[in-house]
Amino acid sequence: MKLRKSVERELDREMHNKTLLPDNFFTASRGSKIAAKLCVNSCKRFSVDVEISNEKVGDELKIHQITERAFLSAPHTDHTEHFIVDALRCAGALTISQVAKSDEEIIGHVAISPVTLSGGATGWFGLGPISVLPEYQRLGIGSKLMRSSLAALEAMGTSGCVVLGDPGYYGRFGFTVVDGLVFPGVPPEYFQALSFSGGFPRGEVLYHQAFSAKG
Ligand SMILES: CC(C)(COP(=O)(O)OP(=O)(O)OC[C@H]1O[C@@H](n2cnc3c(N)ncnc32)[C@H](O)[C@@H]1OP(=O)(O)O)[C@@H](O)C(=O)NCCC(=O)NCCS
Repeated sequence: MKLRKSVERELDREMHNKTLLPDNFFTASRGSKIAAKLCVNSCKRFSVDVEISNEKVGDELKIHQITERAFLSAPHTDHTEHFIVDALRCAGALTISQVAKSDEEIIGHVAISPVTLSGGATGWFGLGPISVLPEYQRLGIGSKLMRSSLAALEAMGTSGCVVLGDPGYYGRFGFTVVDGLVFPGVPPEYFQALSFSGGFPRGEVLYHQAFSAKG
């Protein structure tokens, strides 16, 4: 019983009380905390209640930490995303900064900042970095952050948004490759846009200088 309580406490801490483990789990695992963690991480048989809200004063450090952790084992990154978010905030360029919270704990974050178009089109923004803590990934939290931040951006009366990343993922939210809209140096299929105004600009896209932050 004591052992079971300790496993339950551990799971509560890790998963914020939202586990859906098999009924016989505690018997089968003999109460091992390690087994509990392994099961949670490999079975993904839990759900999490998540609320999306705007970043608040005091959230900065947590956002920095979760961004760093989310990208630790991500491919195609030089692991500067947490510095980028800090630098965007510092420059007053975090147009949208939303957090995903479960039981008041921040477990995900999304940033949107202005981009510049070589052709002079205005009102365009870039989504990213977007981060969900590794142990909470593939539970729909990233999708919630995507939908919420894009809805907020559209409500501001902006023209649209670009994103750099996997077309399979961002295509789910309406992003599409646009002929003539280019982010230099990356394969064209990895750069996509979503228009709120009906049309798409052409030309090269330049992200905010905060994207070169290294520390
Ligand atoms: C990308 C990320 C924010 C998605 O968050 P999430 O909460 O895991 O996403 P969701 O649960 O809403 O969606 C999961 C789905 O997206 C897919 N997916 C997740 N990340 C993906 C990626 N980088 N590329 C392609 N597909 C991806 C998963 O395979 C999963 O597919 P399924 O629904 O068919 O199983 C999260 O995986 C993350 O923080 N990754 C590390 C940082 C990163 O790469 N950020 C994106 C670049 S800015």
